[in-house]
Amino acid sequence: MPTALITGITGQDGQYLAEHLHGEGYRVVGLMTGQHNPRSETVAADLPYVELVPGDLADLASLIAALEYTQPDEVYNLGAISFVALSFKQPELTANITGLGVLRLLEAIRLVGGVDNPIRFYQASSSEMFGKVRETPQNELTPLHPRSPYGSAKVFGHHTTVNYRESYGLFACSGILFNHESPRRGLEFVTRKVTNAVARIKLGLQDEVALGNLDAKRDWGFAGDYVRAMHLMLRQPEPDDYVIATGTTHAVRDFVQLAFAAAGIDDWERYVRIDPRFFRPAEVDLLVGDASKAERVLGWTPQMSFEELVTSMVTSDIEIERRKLK
Ligand code: GDD
Repeated sequence: MPTALITGITGQDGQYLAEHLHGEGYRVVGLMTGQHNPRSETVAADLPYVELVPGDLADLASLIAALEYTQPDEVYNLGAISFVALSFKQPELTANITGLGVLRLLEAIRLVGGVDNPIRFYQASSSEMFGKVRETPQNELTPLHPRSPYGSAKVFGHHTTVNYRESYGLFACSGILFNHESPRRGLEFVTRKVTNAVARIKLGLQDEVALGNLDAKRDWGFAGDYVRAMHLMLRQPEPDDYVIATGTTHAVRDFVQLAFAAAGIDDWERYVRIDPRFFRPAEVDLLVGDASKAERVLGWTPQMSFEELVTSMVTSDIEIERRKLK
């Protein structure tokens, strides 16, 4: 039975990836940060087959111990401070976890794996690295121009992954994933913030939602589709980097309009208030990815459309809010 170690097991992608790998016959181990982390109970309830090991991306010794105990065939680094807005408020923490955390994990793999290192490594790189985009659509060769402490930290993690592959021959891949959402998305991200608010407005529990920049454009896909790509990257004969995206882009405004429409509300502008607090010091205006390499080499294509994604998130949030009322 192959073993996978996942950092970021409590996040949206960690959960989908654990389910996917479990379905593929893997032993799945999740790295869990903190003393009596309350999220460990959620993982135990939702993903009972996942084994948890203690460890922290800020602590090299703990990563070495986790690898020695787990003896993984594959390591997926999904752990990070992943909220761009927070990274402006806590840039040093972001650099430490999202950036240096990658270096620590790679160092731990290098030290534990020995000669002919058998451990395969996946780094969750991000389309945020393209930032102030130099070309459209963005592909694996597009120059990077990050616009946030988060983006800068991801650039460091990305280059470090490539560097360990080239310096030590590690099987290290970097997936440059564009935004990917689902009903499991955290409430701080714009998509889930909106679908949760739409559900609550629909049920009369909330009057309005305060948002920032509605003009930013994102290439939004479904997280369940994107974790399949992570696994495929590690099953190739050679390690490489891949853009994972749908190839279509929508403004935040389009997402908002569609989400309200999915709940049968057409006059969405009545319920949206623009609040300067939700604007960022520097914005990524437009993201749209070219995933043709992933399609050609990995045979990967996204399965869920933008409309299906929005509708599934709204439907799920209405159900969640209804259940709370009972
Ligand atoms: N979060 C949030 N809240 N974003 C808002 C809001 C709001 O109230 N109003 C407008 N936005 C805009 C943001 O300014 C941004 O342009 C866009 O909505 C998307 O914001 P997020 O959903 O927070 O995601 P992100 O694009 O910044 O980052 C996500 O995608 C990256 C991949 O490109 C995160 O998942 C990152 O971890 C990921 O790497």
